[in-house]
Amino acid sequence: MNKDQKYKDVTEQIMAVTAGEDNKIACMATICCLLSEALDDFFWTGFYLVDEDKADELVIGPYQGSLGCLRIAYGRGVCGTAAATGQTQLVDNVHDFPGHIACDSRSVSEIVVPIFDRAQKLIAVLDVDSERPVNFDEIDRYYLEQITRDVFARCTLASD
Ligand code: SME
Repeated sequence: MNKDQKYKDVTEQIMAVTAGEDNKIACMATICCLLSEALDDFFWTGFYLVDEDKADELVIGPYQGSLGCLRIAYGRGVCGTAAATGQTQLVDNVHDFPGHIACDSRSVSEIVVPIFDRAQKLIAVLDVDSERPVNFDEIDRYYLEQITRDVFARCTLASD
């Protein structure tokens, strides 16, 4: 099965399993589990949440994989850049990314997708890392942006 078909299937599964669930953590944990089981070479799959108590800092959320850093400041590394710019970051080789945070030296390529609530406020980022260089492309961007947009648009607002 090609990657596009795997994403189509897992998207359907994620939407079915999370249907009617508006708790962000429950949705995030489910997404991490299903994505990392469905896609190849997802070495680390997880969420960093906007910390409501600390300005401009992300804090670790649900994930699958080896130990992740607990906190990341906005602007630092790939996750911090996605949070600061509000733009998806697609990195073929993290060793070429200035300020990359090496939580696990086995990670080589990664994609980080910012996630917004219904009021367009940043609530988290989805970070997927691979041991393979250039593991992520526009197909990953398309589906990961679509999955997170569709699931979290119906989840609670950051201010709820
Ligand atoms: N790679 C990330 C840090 C988080 S971990 O890899 C789990 C980054 O540079 O933002």
